[in-house]
Amino acid sequence: MDLTLFVWRQKGPDKAGKLQQYKAKDVSPDMSFLEMLDEVNEKLIKEGGEPIVFDHDCREGICGTCSQVINGIPHGPQELTTVCQLHMRKFKDGDTIYIEPWRAKAFPIVKDLIVDRSALDRIIQAGGYISAHTGGVADANAILIPKADADVAMDAAECIGCGACVAACPNGSAMLFTAAKVTQLAMLPQGRVEAAKRVCLMTDTMLKEGFGNCTNHYECQAACPKGIKVSFIAKLNREFIKAQVS
Ligand code: SF4
Ligand code: FES
Repeated sequence: MDLTLFVWRQKGPDKAGKLQQYKAKDVSPDMSFLEMLDEVNEKLIKEGGEPIVFDHDCREGICGTCSQVINGIPHGPQELTTVCQLHMRKFKDGDTIYIEPWRAKAFPIVKDLIVDRSALDRIIQAGGYISAHTGGVADANAILIPKADADVAMDAAECIGCGACVAACPNGSAMLFTAAKVTQLAMLPQGRVEAAKRVCLMTDTMLKEGFGNCTNHYECQAACPKGIKVSFIAKLNREFIKAQVS
């Protein structure tokens, strides 16, 4: 395939950015999207140009670093798929592809397609952990957890902290991310001990970091590569209300 790319280039946080046109030639449908960008960068380097800077790590859909908006959609056109797991067979010869970084007030651009997502880390640091003393390693079946609760906790734990939910939301809200992290711990007996304190600290940090509020657009759910549902936001709200009266 031969493709035309328009890629966001920005030298630094305070510099002006713009979409720059590139040609990607002989792209194999079996390449991943990031491999296609690797090839474009190889060519740029050989020609003495500056390679396109983009974030990636695992390339297996588990680390959440590959943050690109492709043709206006965070993580691109394939549902439940991160950019690194997106393959070029999703596109066709002659296509024009627009590639931009996450756009949100709380995610300042570092360079080109890389944004600073440390605001999500600070939400976790505020309370996304268990610090209660839980004693020695217990037998696997010593603390019984209803299967339905364990399933919800596992579903919530699928969140990889990529931030696509924030990029997709017109308010730049991190409610889906925070809801997944709060729920993951609140569903388990070990996490219940600090549940009230946790939800207050994490939501407070979320607001202080400049994320917007949820006004039920559901764009977060549509963009999430891990299928985190907005029902977790309802759970977050219930946890928050419970914390106010506890
Ligand atoms: S909720 Fe989904 S979109 Fe948001 S950070 Fe977690 S995995 Fe990414
Ligand atoms: S590079 Fe790790 S999820 Fe895409």
